[in-house]
Amino acid sequence: MTLHAKGQTLVIQGGKPLRGVVDIGGSKNAALGAMAACLLVADDCTLENVPHIDDVDQMALVLRSLGAAVEWAGNNTLRINASNITSTRPDRDLVGTLRGSFLVMGALLGRFGEAACPPPGGDVIGQRPIEVHLEGFRALGAEVEIDADAFHARAKNKKLKGSVFFADYPSVLGTQNAMMAAVLAEGQTTIVNAAAEPEVQNLAEMLNAMGARITGAGTGTITVEGVKSLKGVRYAIIPDRLEAGTFAIAAAITGGEVEMTGVNLVHLTSFIYKLRQTGVIVETNSSSFRVHRNGGLQAITVQALPYPGFATDLQAPFAVLLTQANGVSYVHERVFDNRLLYISELRKMGAEIVTTGTTVAIISGPTPLTGASLRAMDVRAGAAFILAGLVARGRTEVIDVYHVDRG
Ligand code: EPU
Repeated sequence: MTLHAKGQTLVIQGGKPLRGVVDIGGSKNAALGAMAACLLVADDCTLENVPHIDDVDQMALVLRSLGAAVEWAGNNTLRINASNITSTRPDRDLVGTLRGSFLVMGALLGRFGEAACPPPGGDVIGQRPIEVHLEGFRALGAEVEIDADAFHARAKNKKLKGSVFFADYPSVLGTQNAMMAAVLAEGQTTIVNAAAEPEVQNLAEMLNAMGARITGAGTGTITVEGVKSLKGVRYAIIPDRLEAGTFAIAAAITGGEVEMTGVNLVHLTSFIYKLRQTGVIVETNSSSFRVHRNGGLQAITVQALPYPGFATDLQAPFAVLLTQANGVSYVHERVFDNRLLYISELRKMGAEIVTTGTTVAIISGPTPLTGASLRAMDVRAGAAFILAGLVARGRTEVIDVYHVDRG
């Protein structure tokens, strides 16, 4: 479902408190991993609670380019069958637009003992090496070659062998790729310094429901006991913690009151903690939370870190909230090395933000924001500009809003 074509603009007339209830959709990033995992079997797989967003449609095209059948069976249900895989190398142009597409490599290597993938694209948020992914494949006994077109991985005798894999950095996609490569390998694999993100946990649970034997997902050490075969699955994607956080900030920044339902509060622990530190009132229930304000916001310090740290994907939206807080806030982006590019756009609205280097922002507030014309450079920056537009006086234009539709 494409809402906006490239170059299209979203116009926001700010200044209204938002009120209501939002049912949070399935996680974009978890859905991409789950879709790749369907390549591990020839059986039908049904994924539920899949968000119908551009990145998911793009991933569907990537799977189809390999010969998989992918179809929507209802608004949020995706049926995938990979019994007729015709290629172990996805289309270059498709992969170039979607970082998550690189996950097909681990799944194809795991099932067929060989795979190739052109360099994946992705948002401009800093260096995005894939050495961790490739080292994971090597640790399982694959030979990895890199040529001008693609990364190639090939297992000796088409069979990967379990071993200990130490990830230099707890890369989210790198951990998912290693898990998918390891599930059908001979013997046991231990992934040390694994990413603990909920999206990794979701993938491990789905793989286990397919017959894999994975323990430790959600911690820094994941163990995968290789199995001989996997089977099809019906699996529901976890709620999107980033979408929930973005709507919560929309409520807080406009002085409204919004309830986010259908969430997993454990995944939102760091976010809710930091939101409360600013003085926002957060009332939690078993699978929902309500956000409102009782007065002004306080400046705080936020550090974006791997899970369970504060999510880097909520760093830009949260920084917008802090422009409305009393005092000086510090935001330290410690996951990506260049994820503050959105700040120069926010300054056009009157935000008082000083950066030191490319990872630290010092925000003075509260500053009244005034509508301006801003260019979204990635999905989270685009969301942040919409939040700024909601609280600004006058008219805000978010150019290239298709980035927001992606997620
Ligand atoms: N890194 C390395 N070596 C590697 C791989 C990564 O040093 O081989 C470093 C990167 O340089 C970066 C850090 O690790 O500084 C984090 O990168 P990671 O590999 O964990 O990110 P990713 O797996 O490519 C996923 C999400 C991102 C999210 C990050 C961090 C998907 C499709 N993408 O990316 O989501 O920001 O994890 O949580 O799952 C978004 O949704 O807007 C988005 C960018």
